[in-house]
Amino acid sequence: MAAPSGRAAVLLRVGRVPGLSPVPRRYLYKKKWATTAPRIPAPRLALHHFDTTYSLQLQELWPAVRSAMLCEQKYGALLNNFACADLTAQRLELLSATDFVSEAARRARCWQESAGVGGERRKTSLEGSGGDGTTLPTETSPLLRASLSSNVKCYTFPRGDISRFHPARPDSLGILSYYLMDAASLLPVLALNVQPDDFVLDLCAAPGGKMLALLQTGACGHLAANDVSISRTKRLYHILNSYVPKEVRETVSVTSHDGRDWGELQGGTFHKVLVDVPCTTDRHSVMEEENNIFHKMRTKERQMLPMLQLQLLMAGILAAKPEGEVVYSTCSLSQLQNEHVVERAIDIAETQFGITVHIEDLSHFRTLFQDTFCFFSGCRLGELVLPHLTANFGPMYFCKLRRA
Ligand SMILES: C[S@@+](CC[C@H](N)C(=O)[O-])C[C@H]1O[C@@H](n2cnc3c(N)ncnc32)[C@H](O)[C@@H]1O
Repeated sequence: MAAPSGRAAVLLRVGRVPGLSPVPRRYLYKKKWATTAPRIPAPRLALHHFDTTYSLQLQELWPAVRSAMLCEQKYGALLNNFACADLTAQRLELLSATDFVSEAARRARCWQESAGVGGERRKTSLEGSGGDGTTLPTETSPLLRASLSSNVKCYTFPRGDISRFHPARPDSLGILSYYLMDAASLLPVLALNVQPDDFVLDLCAAPGGKMLALLQTGACGHLAANDVSISRTKRLYHILNSYVPKEVRETVSVTSHDGRDWGELQGGTFHKVLVDVPCTTDRHSVMEEENNIFHKMRTKERQMLPMLQLQLLMAGILAAKPEGEVVYSTCSLSQLQNEHVVERAIDIAETQFGITVHIEDLSHFRTLFQDTFCFFSGCRLGELVLPHLTANFGPMYFCKLRRA
């Protein structure tokens, strides 16, 4: 909005002078401003839209999710293995933060041991189905085959603790010790399960939190980080320069292609593909006016999002090698942008490209990470982290697909 000029501006300035009584509000605006229809702020439009759609989708869960989205979100500190990680880890632990990835990996190992994987099976009190909708380990459960990258470490404060991390400080070589991000953003990266020397594509990579997490696995043989926005790809370079040493940076290529064309550019080449698409960024949309997709002028763009998401996911599937794996993710609760996009992509892959795509079961993530995140148990495909006041991460939807 243009800054008020003339009398209105003068009145506004006078109103802020300390010691003077504030100018009555009715005199602050020109008369014609007061008679134009009030512009509804984009966050209010977003909230109204979500009240209509998510109250149906999430039903009795929606009021709690709504309250959480309107409160300050929680962050996780992704430890930078390229800096002095041990020292930083000690400092974070002194603050009572814990690495939720190592915790989950330890938990998985315990279950594997008590289930006798690789040895005689013992009965575990955790078998069967959890009352909260979580799947507890049975002999065939993916939980017992779960492997989490032990290299990725992300510290969070305990449930209900809303302490905040200080901004990261550079080490003696100028490399930053941790990266602050929504800890739920790490789940799509963990779901991708990068294996040594994998060729990895991050199709919509900017600003680069997940790209950095992919590099923390230490397993990427090559990482192609792409984002259509040239200004946002600059943020990728910024992250690479602030967190990653030169020899690792050399394994990363940064490009600014329209991701929808990727399948044609370099089809069938990647072992792992992350498709972290643009979406309604629900938390941002209910909180911030700036760059809000619910702004009236962006209605068309918002309505076209599922189509763009579908095209990007299709490009991701085509970029993967046979048997390659693709993780699709959004930070929206919307079924239209989540499961529906995945379903349509599977359908199109089969009918138009003759490619069979399977959905990988990630339900064990609910069990592994139940201490850190609140999961929705009603997703037909993929997993969804719900914001909650005691664990205010997300929303984060992620679904893993495997190309046959
Ligand atoms: C949710 S953000 C990605 C966040 C990123 N993965 C991270 O973890 O920091 C979505 C990104 O998609 C990019 N984008 C939008 N349309 C695209 C397209 N057609 N091709 C590639 N990237 C696109 C946007 O510029 C935006 O940076």
